[in-house]
Amino acid sequence: MKGIILAGGAGTRLYPASLAISKILLPVYDKPMIYYPLATLLSAGIRDVLVITNPEDHENFKRVLGDGSRWGVQLSYTVQYEKRGIADAFLLGETFLAGQPCALILGDNIFYGNGWEKLLLQAAARREGATVFACEVDDPCRFGVVEFDAKGKAVSLEEKPAAPKSRFAVTGLYFYDERVVQYARRLTPSARGELEITDLNKLYLQDGLLHAARLERGFVWMDAGTHQSMLQAANFVRSMHLQGTEIACLEEIALRKGFVTKETLRKNAAQWPDNPYYRHILELTR
Ligand code: DAU
Repeated sequence: MKGIILAGGAGTRLYPASLAISKILLPVYDKPMIYYPLATLLSAGIRDVLVITNPEDHENFKRVLGDGSRWGVQLSYTVQYEKRGIADAFLLGETFLAGQPCALILGDNIFYGNGWEKLLLQAAARREGATVFACEVDDPCRFGVVEFDAKGKAVSLEEKPAAPKSRFAVTGLYFYDERVVQYARRLTPSARGELEITDLNKLYLQDGLLHAARLERGFVWMDAGTHQSMLQAANFVRSMHLQGTEIACLEEIALRKGFVTKETLRKNAAQWPDNPYYRHILELTR
């Protein structure tokens, strides 16, 4: 399975903070925001990832993440020149995907919770259809919204509805089978001129191929698209850090997954500065 991180867009909602650099490279506590979605893909066992950036920040993303070899994964990059919608990722990524199933994650989505890796592996293992994750929120109008029937089956999807049919937001992580590019080709731009991810998911729903997994209460999902949510995310990461848990430590995940060995990390350590993030990794190599 392949992975795509959609990290384009101008991030105007965060101006002036994101004037000089993409929102998705701004820090969330001790690491750039993009570490978090990349950590999610790695946790799902995905080792071949395309990062879609805006033209201005393309080189910055490459500088931050490189070719991925230090985590035992392969990263490639492409540019989205205009904000043509989230589902545009599949058209931009068609050659990269080469007809394989994939997971798409938005660059500003942060996930953390018990049993998360198990859910990710289940979604990645599903042979047919699409999988989305739903999270109960106070303000569903800001998101894609999924409605469930009494048996917990998804029955409708709407993008930012004025009168939401449920309080379940569709999060920014999606798993698709190898048909995704064909489905994406059938989309037409919405009233705001975008290829909507919700329209793509509706096609899977109409064909009876959409699985919507509900994230349990207590699960942490953040769409770090505003100053408040970025601060909230940073505070959360800091509080977990104080309890000894490093969230989205890519080296730690890569080691756990067997993508890299302790020996490789020890070798790489020669280039690391002495700070808490790298000290945490060094501890793991002992
Ligand atoms: O976070 C979950 C929500 O993400 C879903 O519930 C919605 O269904 C989905 O449409 C999306 O809503 P947003 O309002 O958060 O989408 P936004 O346009 O803010 O884009 C999310 C991220 O994706 C943002 O960091 C920029 C990036 N993006 C977006 C578009 C439309 C791109 O890189 N290129 C694009 O063309």
